[in-house]
Amino acid sequence: MELLGTTTIFLLVCISCLLLFTTWRSTSQKQKQPPGPTTLPIVGNILQLNLSNLPESLKKLSKEYGSVFTVSLGPQKVVVLYGYDVVKEALIDQGDDFSGRGNLPLTKRILKEKGVVTSNGETWKQLRRFTLTTLRDFGMGRKSIEQRIQEEAHFLVERIRNTREQPLNPANFLVHAVSNIICSIIFGDRFDYKDEKFLTLIDLLDENNELLSSVQAQLYNFFPTVMDYLPGPHQKLIENIAKLDQFVLRIIAEHQQTLDPTCPRDFIDAFLNKMHQEKGNSHSEFTTETLSRTTLDLFLAGTGTTSITLRYGLLILQKYPEMAERMQKEIDCVIGRDRSPCMADRSRMPYTDAVAHEIQRFIDFLPFNVPRSVTKDIKFRDYFIPKDTMIFPVLSSVLHNSKEFPNPEKFDPGHFLNANGTFRKSDYFMPFSAGKRVCAGEGLARMEIFIFLTAILQNFTLKPTVDHKDIDISPIAGALANIPRPYEVSFLPR
Ligand code: HEM
Ligand SMILES: *[C@@H]1O[C@H](CO)[C@@H](O)[C@H](O)[C@H]1NC(C)=O
Ligand SMILES: *[C@@H]1O[C@H](CO)[C@@H](O)[C@H](O)[C@H]1NC(C)=O
Ligand SMILES: *[C@@H]1O[C@H](CO)[C@@H](O)[C@H](O)[C@H]1NC(C)=O
Repeated sequence: MELLGTTTIFLLVCISCLLLFTTWRSTSQKQKQPPGPTTLPIVGNILQLNLSNLPESLKKLSKEYGSVFTVSLGPQKVVVLYGYDVVKEALIDQGDDFSGRGNLPLTKRILKEKGVVTSNGETWKQLRRFTLTTLRDFGMGRKSIEQRIQEEAHFLVERIRNTREQPLNPANFLVHAVSNIICSIIFGDRFDYKDEKFLTLIDLLDENNELLSSVQAQLYNFFPTVMDYLPGPHQKLIENIAKLDQFVLRIIAEHQQTLDPTCPRDFIDAFLNKMHQEKGNSHSEFTTETLSRTTLDLFLAGTGTTSITLRYGLLILQKYPEMAERMQKEIDCVIGRDRSPCMADRSRMPYTDAVAHEIQRFIDFLPFNVPRSVTKDIKFRDYFIPKDTMIFPVLSSVLHNSKEFPNPEKFDPGHFLNANGTFRKSDYFMPFSAGKRVCAGEGLARMEIFIFLTAILQNFTLKPTVDHKDIDISPIAGALANIPRPYEVSFLPR
């Protein structure tokens, strides 16, 4: 009896061990997640990262852990993709799996995940398709928006001319010009540079950019529930977004009253028409909420990005006056002085085209991309990545790849030129990312950058306020976006 008991127990223990072992093996194999540094509770890997220089920290970690690794920003686990091969494999070859948007708590709180930039699933699919077609219908890739940019370039050049060579920080001029392009697409018209409503709008935007870099805003991403109760700049940010919302909702209401369904004037009209078409569908993704969110998303995504790229570009060209001069020679040769630049000129201006590309490559505006997420449990290069994991496809690691671009930290238009002076295309040119969620405004942004930059150099020579050798073209460290140091410049009419 006693013997039987021990044997049974022994057998039971053996069987359970075996079972445990096999399930452990299969889960550990299925669940092998990307490696990474050891994490501490609550703070994650924050102490092992230099938050003032995250790109550098991630580069170091990639040397230790390879091109796919995990870091924890506070409690938020992020899988980092480092290098052209993995970024391309994820965003393009495995595009559907990686087509989710990963939103940090602050983004969730202020942008609500209802517009094209932050939404996911069916909402995103429908909004993205609609946004791309409508942007195309209202000009992206068509002539009308090109003319709109040329017209705006005229206003900008006139405004600069009126400064009569006084040194100035060009930030506002550039923001106003760039913002007016997206405003004409979404709201139907540009604003006068002195329009009160417009200036209020831009002030809110500016203030938000500052608030976003506050310590409290960063803390919000780690401890949202606590921070919701505390006062501070993050609360002001939330208030400002509410004001922007109000602004957009008011314009939508005006559009509703004056809508002529047969003749949509802009993005909002087109959206209102779509809402009407889907009236019978109770599951429609086209609602007043997704309309106002998407309009605001386009306004926010289309203003800061492009205007900061131009501002950074003008700083770099002050440091390298010989490059600006060479562009001006090309402009004089191909366009002359009597007409505005247009997109058809670009193919005959390889040097200017190369400089425009090199500006975007060098500044590496969004080094970590806009965070993505995986749409389901997936397998990627033998690793298991659970649904909804946040992903950073690191654009820096592509744009500053030293095999593709020798001396990647140096500003050199030669990165985009063949030996015979023709333009050299590169698959590594990914400032707008790649794949299913690639920037929806890429065509628009590239047109703006080319036309504004060319129009400015056609009409002015840049005169720095300090010796050009002393100009520091490295970005202000710390932010999730690479911003140039503030500067003043004089525009000398040519
Ligand atoms: C130099 C200028 C710009 C840069 C560097 C830039 C860069 C980016 C990047 C890196 C993303 C994330 C893509 C991804 O998740 O893979 C993005 C998304 C987006 N951008 Fe841009 N962008 C610029 C200008 C614009 C403009 C002018 C618009 C206006 C139409 C715009 C609209 C959007 C939208 C709507 C998305 C979200 C796409 C989605 O989630 O499906 N961007 N942009
Ligand atoms: C973090 O990065 C900043 C900016 O590049 C640098 O000045 C600082 O020395 C770095 N700190 C550490 C601890 O490496
Ligand atoms: C630049 O100046 C020339 C005249 O010198 C003018 O024809 C051209 O339209 C100007 N460009 C812009 C964008 O105003
Ligand atoms: C210039 O060089 C590139 C690559 O080296 C080549 O593809 C192209 O045909 C050349 N163009 C001319 C006009 O020689």
